[in-house]
Amino acid sequence: MSDPIIVLNDLTKKYGDYTAVDHVNLTINQGDVFGMLGPNGAGKSTTILMMLGLTEPTSGNVEICGFNSTTHPIDVKRKVGYLPEDVGFYDNITGIENLRYTAQLNGIPTAKANIKIEQLLKRVGLEGQGEKKAGKYSRGMRQRLGLADVLIKDPQIIILDEPTSGIDPAGVVEFINLIHELSEKDGLTILFSSHILDQVQKACQRVVLFNKGQLLAEIDLAEMKEKGEDLSDIYSQYFEEGGKKHE
Ligand SMILES: Nc1ncnc2c1ncn2[C@@H]1O[C@H](COP(=O)(O)OP(=O)(O)OP(=O)(O)O)[C@@H](O)[C@H]1O
Ligand SMILES: [Mg+2]
Repeated sequence: MSDPIIVLNDLTKKYGDYTAVDHVNLTINQGDVFGMLGPNGAGKSTTILMMLGLTEPTSGNVEICGFNSTTHPIDVKRKVGYLPEDVGFYDNITGIENLRYTAQLNGIPTAKANIKIEQLLKRVGLEGQGEKKAGKYSRGMRQRLGLADVLIKDPQIIILDEPTSGIDPAGVVEFINLIHELSEKDGLTILFSSHILDQVQKACQRVVLFNKGQLLAEIDLAEMKEKGEDLSDIYSQYFEEGGKKHE
C-alpha cells in the first residue's frame, strides 16, 4: 500500500458566481500514474494551479508531500515539476541554453547541470537537437524539451497539463512510453491531465472523470480491465445523453 502524496481536501474555486472546482476530494498515492480526464472547461487546469499554489482556493486545501500548497508553495515547488499546456521557452536561445537557465534558477551547479542536460536530452529523445534554437522546435520537440525542463531539478512528482496537445500520433506514443519509463524506472508520481480518453487510458493506472468542476468517478484501470470493461463505455455513461449524465 503506497503513501498518499497529493491530497485534495474539499477543494473549491469560485470565480464570482461561477464554480470552476466544486468540493473536490482526491488522494493520489506515491508512484501512481494518475489521469484527470474531462472535457473543455471541466476545471482540470484550475485544480492543477491550486495544487501548485499558483491559484488560491476559495475553500479547502491541497497537501503535497505533507506541505499545504497555499501556505508552503516553495516547498511544493521543490517537489513538483509542472509542464503547463503552453510551455514557454526563450525562442532565441538553444534548447540547451534554456535548460541551463532552468538549472541555474534551481541552484544546480554548472558542471553538474551540463552532465544532467546531456543525459536528459537523450532520455527525452532530443539527442543532437540541443543546439537548435528553441524557436525552431516542432510542437512535439517543445513538449519533450518541456519534460527535460521539469526533470532537471529531480522532482518527486510531475504534473502534465494536456502534455500531448499538438503532437503527431507517433510522437504521442513515444511521449506515453516515456511516462511509463519515468514511473517504472524512476518511481515518479505522475499526474496526466487531458481531454483525450485514449491517451489517458494508455498512460495511466488510475483515472478520475472530471466535469463541471466535480469528480464523477474514480477508476482503477487494471480492475476495470479484469472486469472486461472499457473506459470509453464508462465515460459515455457519464457524458452521453440518456446515461448517468452529470447535471
Ligand atoms: N481566471 C479565471 N477567471 C474566470 N474564470 C476562469 C478562470 N480560469 C478558469 N476559469 C473558468 O473555469 C472553468 C474551468 O476552467 P479550466 O481551465 O480549469 O478547465 P479545464 O478542465 O482545464 O479545460 P480546458 O483546459 O480544456 O480549458 C472554465 O469555465 C473557465 O472558463
Ligand atoms: Mg486546461
